Amino acid sequence: MPQKQRTVTLIDNETGKQVELPVHVGTHGHPAIDVRSLNKALGYYTYDPGYMSTASCSSAITYIDGKKGILRYRGYPIEQLAEKSNYLEVCYLLLYGELPTPDEFETFEKSIKEHSMLHEAMRGFFGGFRHDAHPMATMVGVVGALSAFYPDSSSVHNREQRLLAAHRLIAKMPTIAAWSYKYSTGFRFIYPRNHLDYTENFLRMMFAVPTEEYEPDPLFTKALDLILILHADHEQNASTSTVRLTGSSEANPFAAISAGIASLWGPAHGGANEAAIRMLQEITESGDLQKYVDRAKDKNDRFRLMGFGHRIYKSYDPRAAIIRKTCHELLDKIDSRNTPLFETALRLEDIVAKDDYFIERNLYPNVDYYSGIILSAMGIPLSMFTVIFALARTVGWMSHWNEMWEDPESRIGRPRQLYIGEKKRDYVPPEERGA
Ligand code: CMC
Repeated sequence: MPQKQRTVTLIDNETGKQVELPVHVGTHGHPAIDVRSLNKALGYYTYDPGYMSTASCSSAITYIDGKKGILRYRGYPIEQLAEKSNYLEVCYLLLYGELPTPDEFETFEKSIKEHSMLHEAMRGFFGGFRHDAHPMATMVGVVGALSAFYPDSSSVHNREQRLLAAHRLIAKMPTIAAWSYKYSTGFRFIYPRNHLDYTENFLRMMFAVPTEEYEPDPLFTKALDLILILHADHEQNASTSTVRLTGSSEANPFAAISAGIASLWGPAHGGANEAAIRMLQEITESGDLQKYVDRAKDKNDRFRLMGFGHRIYKSYDPRAAIIRKTCHELLDKIDSRNTPLFETALRLEDIVAKDDYFIERNLYPNVDYYSGIILSAMGIPLSMFTVIFALARTVGWMSHWNEMWEDPESRIGRPRQLYIGEKKRDYVPPEERGA
């Protein structure tokens, strides 16, 4: 826990009672008032829908400064990791707190490769889903089902078991993701191959068919690896907080990650990359960009420009800045820049950048705007976009879940509420109701 370095005093103007609350100062960022004694001292709860001002935990994993557009994993700027590292090394960094030595990396990579297969009986789970199931629906179910197959890594109080669960989840997620897709297309499942690296393996399991050799394209492998790095963690977002909250009841890690995947699915969170491309397709078909921009500004219309805006980044999303460059490079190299969808994406970005509504509200394209464009250019189907986000974020979720169990201050998550319902009233028999 960070050091208590100063206090604030809260005075109840009605009763005159007061309480001195400690202020915790972290390494960077906003200090946090510790309100744990507030209820006992003054009888109040704090009210903060959407947790706009609430630090739900202390964490040493990821630092974000939304005003300056800073994102760091374990202190390392995302720009440096994106340029010099690879996804699996970033996984080690997030999970263990330090960059691995060559020996440590070799051992880690070997462990991940050893755990990439699924228990053979798990194949049957896929067959239980409708043929046209969304791969996210399949993934939520199959990841939850891992708890039935790997009970030897389910004890939350045993560090070795926790790390084994983390290795298993990082390793099996590409297999589950690729098989969820293969099942939805009716193609045969492709098993992982240990001579390939993590990202190549995933691409092969997605795209290879038994009848032909498959060589992952180095350009696509590099772009996908970058997308995985950029999505690996993002501190206490909705899905990570869901994993922490679910895990706080001592639920097993597979159940907690399954809950995280469910939370990620929504279009306001990880589902935005899929929603952004669907929106771009619709705009391209209609040909009327301005109509959609006007709809997004209309307060009587629930429509929003998907892939724009962020709860934390009120300047440019640093991940978007990195991926935007890759997006342009990739589109140039594969000669896709002039396709109607990408033209719409670039024109929309341009219109929004000059529109006062978006400028005043600091609404810029976020990482999912460009990741959707890249994935689409790579031939990855829309339904897999959020699945790939979940695959990438698994290490972040597991790092937070593990950190929670190593923090002596962790308790079961149990928010309070401001009750605004009926006062006590007596039961009315059915025949007397509505009179
Ligand atoms: N299009 C149009 N207007 C918007 C948009 C948008 N995409 N995003 C925010 N606004 C407006 C909003 O209507 C509000 O206007 P006003 O002040 O006049 O009421 C103002 O901007 C602030 O919005 P907010 O909803 O209070 O901001 P928030 O922090 O609660 O929401 C957000 C953040 C990401 C949910 C929202 O910007 C959004 O819905 N964006 C589209 C979905 C999206 O791209 N999500 C992916 C986020 S990045 C991936 C991840 O980390 O999960």
